[in-house]
Amino acid sequence: MTGRIYLIGFMGAGKSTVAHLLASRFAAPAYDLDRLVEEQAGMRVCEVFETLGEQRFREMETEALRATEHIETGVFACGGGVVVRDENRALLSRLGTIVYLTVSAEVALARIGDVASRPLLSGPSGALAATALLAAREGLYRSVADAVVTTEGRDPSEVAEAVVEALQAQEGTPWHIR
Ligand code: S3P
Repeated sequence: MTGRIYLIGFMGAGKSTVAHLLASRFAAPAYDLDRLVEEQAGMRVCEVFETLGEQRFREMETEALRATEHIETGVFACGGGVVVRDENRALLSRLGTIVYLTVSAEVALARIGDVASRPLLSGPSGALAATALLAAREGLYRSVADAVVTTEGRDPSEVAEAVVEALQAQEGTPWHIR
């Protein structure tokens, strides 16, 4: 495959796991935007939030996203908040094919389990925060998505398969499936 696939969606949607499965399916590398930010920052995402603040994290996230322009081919798992900035949505649309993996706040929280590594959910009312955040973002995810794939009731390999089908259904698809 040549080109970039960006997986977007809420925390707990399974973007990173599905990115790896898709990448092996397409014989392409998988990347995780959060890990790219961590490499750049020299600290974990939760530490960036704690010590530098969310605003700085968002700047670093945009820098990491912009840098993917130099990677010709790959499957990219994006952080759940990547769609919040207008600039990021424009970048995503320009750089590749965007697949929105959907999940409800309830299932997302159950999948995440320990929210310690998710600074936006680790406060005392994590469940409320998840519901409110997802409601605020749902329209943004959909507004940039080339394909929307549900993850509920599916294991990661079934989600990856559904993504492959959704991509193949697109006209003039550049994706070559192994
Ligand atoms: C965030 C999601 C996280 C990470 C950061 C902020 C968000 O990524 O980027 O904690 O705003 O939804 P995952 O979606 O991979 O958990």
